[in-house]
Amino acid sequence: VRPAAMAAERALAMATCTAPVNIAVIKYWGKRDTDLILPINSSLSVTLHQDQLKTTTTAAASRDFTEDRLWLNGKEADVGHPRVQACLREVRRLARKRRGGGEDAAALSLSYKIHIASENNFPTAAGLASSAAGYACLVSALARLYGLEEELSEVARRGSGSACRSMFGGFVQWQRGERPDGTDSLALQVAPETHWPELRVLVLVVSGEKKPVGSTAGMQTSVETSPLLKHRAEVVVPERLAQMMQHIRDRDFEGFGQLAMRDSNQFHATCLDTFPPIFYLTDVSRHIIALAHRYNAHHGHTKVAYSFDAGPNAVIFALADTVAEFVEVVRRSFPPATNGDQFVRGLPVGSAVLPPELEAAVLSQPVPGAVQYILHTKPGPGPQLVDDPSQHLLGPDGLPRSRA
Ligand code: DP6
Repeated sequence: VRPAAMAAERALAMATCTAPVNIAVIKYWGKRDTDLILPINSSLSVTLHQDQLKTTTTAAASRDFTEDRLWLNGKEADVGHPRVQACLREVRRLARKRRGGGEDAAALSLSYKIHIASENNFPTAAGLASSAAGYACLVSALARLYGLEEELSEVARRGSGSACRSMFGGFVQWQRGERPDGTDSLALQVAPETHWPELRVLVLVVSGEKKPVGSTAGMQTSVETSPLLKHRAEVVVPERLAQMMQHIRDRDFEGFGQLAMRDSNQFHATCLDTFPPIFYLTDVSRHIIALAHRYNAHHGHTKVAYSFDAGPNAVIFALADTVAEFVEVVRRSFPPATNGDQFVRGLPVGSAVLPPELEAAVLSQPVPGAVQYILHTKPGPGPQLVDDPSQHLLGPDGLPRSRA
């Protein structure tokens, strides 16, 4: 008996995967094709470790399901969302192609309705980008369900542009591609997560508020109105991408950090150059930017580098030996509102005493409560299969398990 045919005969098939968040150091902003999600420039990101930030998704197919259904963080959501549908359609198309289109018994399971449940291990309200991990996880789980083994960043891209980069661990490039059909607009791993063992990431969560303008709508307005964005995509990014790849290969934090900050700043400059303008950075974001520059100036070189996406939270890159001191600088600058119990989360952070010269040069008037908490993490691997069936988010009845 062929294994594929066996799978089709099963009443219920289920697969669970996890997928990571990524943070771009050369930003994606702007599409040349909004339906296929083809970008106007290539981008490059660092995949963050799933021990701290991840999405888990279970996909199930059964001949007993009467309709496709989707649950996000325990609540039923619209499975008809065009981007969810695009991912589903593409995965099924690849599965059909793989099976040779014949009247294979296995082809039957492609007509089964599916149930999908997805959860984040971090609060969506924290304003951390969840669509990249979400779509990378959806596509990974569906691929497992249908037994696909090929590289699927092209499919994840149809869910959310940045999601294609979450299909790999470590350092990942999304190459813009040239073809109108998008078949060359793919993610490629530049280096694995083990390449730069000292690299650390601090997420400074400054606000749980929803962003004023979503990325999808925002970047479209930018494409239509910002001459700076056009210049960025055509001239600036191609140069920067090559430089950034070299800095990563060389594990050159000075070069990497400088360029990451400049690229984040240029992205936010294109937002200001958009008409009407878009503001993602807040006063707290700007405080963090100024603090990072004072800290680096005090040390005489780039010790920390910030990057901001379409929201006010700061992502700070640093080497491991800098983390404890910089966390103390942040704690002193933004004293926790409560007792500060859970102020630092994720990987352990050692204690540090700030030298008086540093205090004098770097600290300014504290802004209590402005940073809710700091999440300490590092680069991590790409999507993972969850083998343990007890970890499925859907029960044997195909419905979400009650959450503990
Ligand atoms: C600022 O990938 O969320 O985070 O493709 O429309 O889903 P869509 O947009 P999305 O945009 C991410 C923009 C960014 C920069 C980046 O991640 O490169």
